[in-house]
This record gives sequence, C-alpha cells and structure tokens, in this order.
Amino acid sequence: MAVQGFGNVGSVAAAELENFGAKIVAISDVTGGIINKDGIDIKQLFKHFKESGSLIGYPFAKQCTNEEVLTCDCDILAPAATQSVVTSDIAGKIKAKIVAEGANSPTVPDADEILAQKNVFIIPDILCNAGGVFVSYLEYTQETQREQMTLEQVNKRLNDRMNAKFEQVFEYSQGKQLKNASGCNGYSCEQSCRSDECIGCFAIRFMLA
Ligand SMILES: NC(=O)c1ccc[n+]([C@@H]2O[C@H](COP(=O)([O-])OP(=O)(O)OC[C@H]3O[C@@H](n4cnc5c(N)ncnc54)[C@H](O)[C@@H]3O)[C@@H](O)[C@H]2O)c1
Repeated sequence: MAVQGFGNVGSVAAAELENFGAKIVAISDVTGGIINKDGIDIKQLFKHFKESGSLIGYPFAKQCTNEEVLTCDCDILAPAATQSVVTSDIAGKIKAKIVAEGANSPTVPDADEILAQKNVFIIPDILCNAGGVFVSYLEYTQETQREQMTLEQVNKRLNDRMNAKFEQVFEYSQGKQLKNASGCNGYSCEQSCRSDECIGCFAIRFMLA
C-alpha cells in the first residue's frame, strides 16, 4: 500500500497497517516521497525521521515525488496528508483498487467520478478517519463514569465499532445503489434524524411525566 502524509494520521496508519501485515511500498510528506516496491520498514523509517526530521535521505528506498506516491503500483492508497490532493488528473493515473481517505476531503468531486468509473473502492473520510473521534468519546465516557479502560479494551471497542459501521455503511450504499461517500452521508443523516426523534420522544415523555 501507499500512504501520503507522515503526521498524526499517516505515520500511525502506516505503522498499524504494517503490524497487520501490509507492505508499505511508498510514503511521503510535504518534502517529498520515498518508494521501494519490496517494502519500507516503518519502524526504521521512524528512527530516520526522528534523527533527520524528514523522510528524504532514508537509505533503503528511492526518492520520489508526491504524485509518484499517489499513482504508484499498489492495492491500497491512503491519502492521509491534506485536502484536495486527489485531483481528476491524479485520479486518472491511480492504480490502487482501494482509496482509504485518512485525510479530510482528499478527493475532489470530479476525481470521485473518475475513480467510480474505474471501479476503485473508496472508504470515505468520515468513515475511514472516524476512529480518533470514537476514541475521544471513550476518553469522555471514562472521565464521566470515573472508569478506566485498558488499551486492549479501547482497541476492542474501536475495532468492533469501526467494523460494524463499515458494514452498515457498505450495506446502506449497496442497497440504495449509492457510491460509498454518498451512502456514508445518507446513512449518517438518517442516524442523526433518528437520534433527534429519540431525544424528542424522551423530552415529551419527560415533560408529560
Ligand atoms: N489528527 C487527527 O486526529 C485527525 C483525525 C481525522 C482526520 N484528520 C485529517 O487527516 C489529515 C492529516 O492530519 P494530521 O493530524 O496527520 O496532520 P499532521 O500535520 O500531523 O500531518 C500532515 C502530514 O501531511 C504532510 N503534508 C502536508 N501537506 C502535504 C502535501 N501537500 N503533500 C504531501 N504531504 C503533505 C505533512 O508533511 C505531514 O507529514 C488532515 O486532513 C486532517 O484534517 C486528522
């Protein structure tokens, strides 16, 4: 897989995905990219980054441009740097079969259309990068409930929630023949309206009690 961005999202995504067995073949930050089709060792890259403050100069990969990272030969591309980097020009050249939007709005609308025509599976930003928000919610509940969870418990709840939401959004999108991004927005709007209805019912019952 290829990752654009080596900040909070990109570096952690690369390290976690490497732990899950993914081979990171290209990665970049604002200064440029590095590429090695045999894989880049992310732990080693972290050391290099800490010492030099840059990905550039990492000795076990070739230097490349950000465009080369986005369009390299890989199964999964994670644009995890900033918005609007997947332009229609880039979308036409993307070889990945899956685009996992780690950044917010990395894909411009025209590029979205091109990727759909190429049957690229997009995991939309509001789903793909929602894990951080969910863990913030867990922090909040631990504080309010005066309870402390272990890292394992947090990771389990995070995995369960993200897997369940992925399946629900995917089913919703398929059922309504929508692209994943539109399905994700439609699904979230429906869920928000339902929770408003529940809060409304609760408020009426509370007032009538
Ligand atoms: N940090 C979070 O909790 C969080 C959660 C969800 C979504 N996001 C989104 O993810 C994206 C990245 O956030 P972050 O917190 O990792 O930011 P960050 O500042 O920690 O890291 C950004 C990374 O992208 C690189 N970068 C910046 N502009 C670039 C460009 N034009 N081309 C290539 N690389 C570039 C930077 O060098 C850096 O490595 C943003 O869109 C942000 O809104 C962040």
